[in-house]
Amino acid sequence: MITNNPVSLIRKKRDGDALSSDEIRWLIHEYTHDRIPDYQMASFLMAGYLNGLNAEEASALCDAMLHSGIVLDLSDIPGIKVDKHSTGGVGDKLSLILAPIVAACGVPVPMISGRGLGHSGGTLDKLESIPGFNVNLDLDRYREVLRAHNLVLIGQTEDIAPADKRMYALRDVTATVECIPFIAASIMSKKLAEGIDALVLDVKFGSGAFMKTEERALDLARTLVSIGEAAGKRTVAYLTNMDQPLGRAIGNWNEVRESIEVLQGGGPHDVRDLSLLLAGTMIHLGGKASSVEAGIAMGKARIADGSAFRCFVDVARAQDADVATLLAPDTYPTADVSMDVLAAQDGIVVGFDSYEIGMAGVELGAGRLKKEDSIDPTAGIELHVKLGSHVVAGDRLATLFTSLSKSASVRRISERIPRAIHLGNTAVKPVKQVTHVVNRDGVSLY
Ligand code: URA
Repeated sequence: MITNNPVSLIRKKRDGDALSSDEIRWLIHEYTHDRIPDYQMASFLMAGYLNGLNAEEASALCDAMLHSGIVLDLSDIPGIKVDKHSTGGVGDKLSLILAPIVAACGVPVPMISGRGLGHSGGTLDKLESIPGFNVNLDLDRYREVLRAHNLVLIGQTEDIAPADKRMYALRDVTATVECIPFIAASIMSKKLAEGIDALVLDVKFGSGAFMKTEERALDLARTLVSIGEAAGKRTVAYLTNMDQPLGRAIGNWNEVRESIEVLQGGGPHDVRDLSLLLAGTMIHLGGKASSVEAGIAMGKARIADGSAFRCFVDVARAQDADVATLLAPDTYPTADVSMDVLAAQDGIVVGFDSYEIGMAGVELGAGRLKKEDSIDPTAGIELHVKLGSHVVAGDRLATLFTSLSKSASVRRISERIPRAIHLGNTAVKPVKQVTHVVNRDGVSLY
C-alpha cells in the first residue's frame, strides 16, 4: 500500500484532477481504519461531488469500498448466482415476487436487501411484517437456506462494505448524496460483496424515484453496468418509470399481500409484467433460459404451477416465519383505523405525485420519519385508481390505514392524496413502464 497525504489528495480532487486507483484505494483504506477523520473525508466527498469522478475513479472507489469488508464466496454452491437491485420507488415490492420465481426456476438468489429510505419502502421492512421472519441470519445459516431453497433474504451485515456505511452517513449530512459515481459505488460495493455472478438492476426515474429525470437515471444505469462488468459480473439495467406508484398497495403487509396475489397468478398488471421481465432476465443470466423471453415464459409457468409461491412460503418458514398468514392472508390483523379519500369532482386521472403518496404512507406509519421510528406493518395506502382511470365525484381514490396512535393525524395526512392524484378531462397516453435497457453492449430503447 502506498503512503499518501490526505490533504494533497483532497487538493488534487478540488483542483479538478483525477486520482489514481491506488490513491483512491489508500484513501478509503485509511478512512475505514480511522486514520483519516470524517472532516477530511467530507472535504474529499464535496470535491468529488463538485468536480465529478471519471469511470476509472468510480470503479476504484467501488472496489475499495467493496474490499473494506468481507466478500462472500459462494462458489461451493452450485449454479450461477443472480440478484436484483432497485434504486427504490413507491409500491416497489418486486423483490418479494421475482426472487421466488427465479429460485423456483433453479437459479440461486442470495438477496441482501435494505430498509425503507425516505419516501420509498424497503424489502426488509416488508419481510418483517410477516410474523417471525428473521432477516438477521448469520452467514452459516445464510448459506444453508440458500443451498436448500435457492433463495435467501437477509439484511446487510456489519462486515459487508463497512466503508459504505460510514461514507453514506457522512454524505447524508454533508449534502453529497446525489452524485452518480458515489451512488453507483455505494450500491455496487454492497451487491458485489454478496458473492453473486450476475446482477439485474431496476433504475427508476420520475416523481417517485431518487433520479427525477430519465437522463440522470440513464447516466446512473451506465455507471452501474460499467462497474459490474469491470468486476466480471454480467450486469443488465432497465430504466423504469415511477410517475405512478407500482401496483395498488403501499405499506409493508399491504405489499406482501399484493405480492402473494401476483405469485398466485393475479395482482395488478404493472407489478406482474415488471416482475416477470426482471425475473426473466435473471433466469437468462442464470443460464436456465436461452433468452429473456424464454426466461419470462419459465417464470409464468412457475407461477401457474404454484412452485414460485411454494418457494416463498418454504423460505419464509426456513427463516423462522409463522407462514399461516401467507397461506391465509385474510387472517392477518387489520389496521386500527381506515379512511377512504373520495374524489371531489369528476375527471380522468392524468398524473400522480408518487413522492407525495410515498410520504403520506410514511406519515401513516409505513416508513420512518426518524431513524428510531418503529413501523406499523398494517399502515399504508390502497389506491383505487391508476393513470387513465375515470372517476366521478364521490368515488374512492384511496383508502388509508393507520394505527390508533395516529388517528388524530389521519385527516391531515389524507389531504395529501387529492394533491397527489391529478384529475383532468383529457385521456392520457398509457405510460411506457420500461424505456431503456443498458448492458455491456450499450444502451437500447426498450
Ligand atoms: N442507495 C445506496 O445504497 N446508496 C446510495 O448512495 C444511494 C442509494
